[in-house]
Amino acid sequence: MSDSSPLLEVTDLCTTFTTPTGPVAAVSGVSFTLNHDETLGIVGESGSGKTVLSRTVMGLQPRRNVVVTGSSRLNGVELVGASEAEKRRVWGLEVAMIFQDPMTSLNPVMRIGKQIDEILRVRRGLSRSAARDRAIELLELVGIPSPTQRYREYPGALSGGMRQRVVIAAALAGSPQLLMADEPTTGLDVTIQAQILNLLDDLRARLRMSVVLVTHDLGVVATRTSRLVVMYAGRVVEVGSTRDLFARHRMPYTRALLEGSPRLSNPAHTRLVTIPGRPPNLAQLPAGCSFAPRCAYATAQCHVERPELQPADGLGHYFACWNPLPTPTGVS
Ligand SMILES: Nc1ncnc2c1ncn2[C@@H]1O[C@H](COP(=O)(O)OP(=O)(O)O)[C@@H](O)[C@H]1O
Ligand code: SF4
Ligand SMILES: [Mg+2]
Repeated sequence: MSDSSPLLEVTDLCTTFTTPTGPVAAVSGVSFTLNHDETLGIVGESGSGKTVLSRTVMGLQPRRNVVVTGSSRLNGVELVGASEAEKRRVWGLEVAMIFQDPMTSLNPVMRIGKQIDEILRVRRGLSRSAARDRAIELLELVGIPSPTQRYREYPGALSGGMRQRVVIAAALAGSPQLLMADEPTTGLDVTIQAQILNLLDDLRARLRMSVVLVTHDLGVVATRTSRLVVMYAGRVVEVGSTRDLFARHRMPYTRALLEGSPRLSNPAHTRLVTIPGRPPNLAQLPAGCSFAPRCAYATAQCHVERPELQPADGLGHYFACWNPLPTPTGVS
């Protein structure tokens, strides 16, 4: 696959859970692409479907009680409906995922080094001693001091930030082209958050990876992504370059997210994003725009007709709104 074709191409992806109370449309008709060496942000309030989308993109949804339609192609290989054998070939080697809580990815009763060794031996076929050397190198690469000593320790001996570094080292063991990071710094204190985000940035550039950074916090993605996908109630409601979305977003929900971001609107505030009202129940989505019950700009049409994504002025900038915010003048 040449570098000019997208690394990841997601088309009309839908994930619906079958629950005793009926279908839950967690992801509906999501499309986006990710290029080589790019960092894409997926942003939205808690419950907007970011995690379900990330897992579906990787083909990680279980087969029971969930229906996935659409397409997610990594280097041209379809992951929706792929066999477990096909997915195992891709996971770790072409794409790896890190989550909010590093302990969900680490085995608490296994030494740190062994957890990385295993991946290197099983996935990359390294010998025991080569795997050990490479694991120590990876621990060093992610900025763990005294990696030779740390190699022998258990995850419990490390701080939250250091554990996330270990998870990143393990994710890099397969030399993936794509790293999906789902709220990788939520729960860490602000200084450590910045260190981990800087590390991801640095690794992306050094290892020529692409990164998908999933977060509810626009402060996290402001300077670290080239493009953003904004999600609400399982749909993409605005997408475009990070610059366009910050300077001339058209969707009231995107504005509300920006205003609610503690670090962007009021650095002294530490509270998380709060938009008045609550996200809709995905089992009973309103007929029109899902944001209508909470939107200050809603008109009668918003309650009955769902707005489709339409192009804005900027390249690749699209928004779904009947009453878009005006483009500010004087912003280029
Ligand atoms: N296994 C499941 N069964 C039913 N609903 C689910 C399941 N997993 C997630 N959901 C629903 O999907 C929605 C989106 O969740 P999620 O992707 O975790 O949001 P986010 O990551 O943006 O906070 C939530 O409303 C959640 O309740
Ligand atoms: S379509 Fe209507 S309700 Fe939805 S965001 Fe736009 S103005 Fe608000
Ligand atoms: Mg999530």
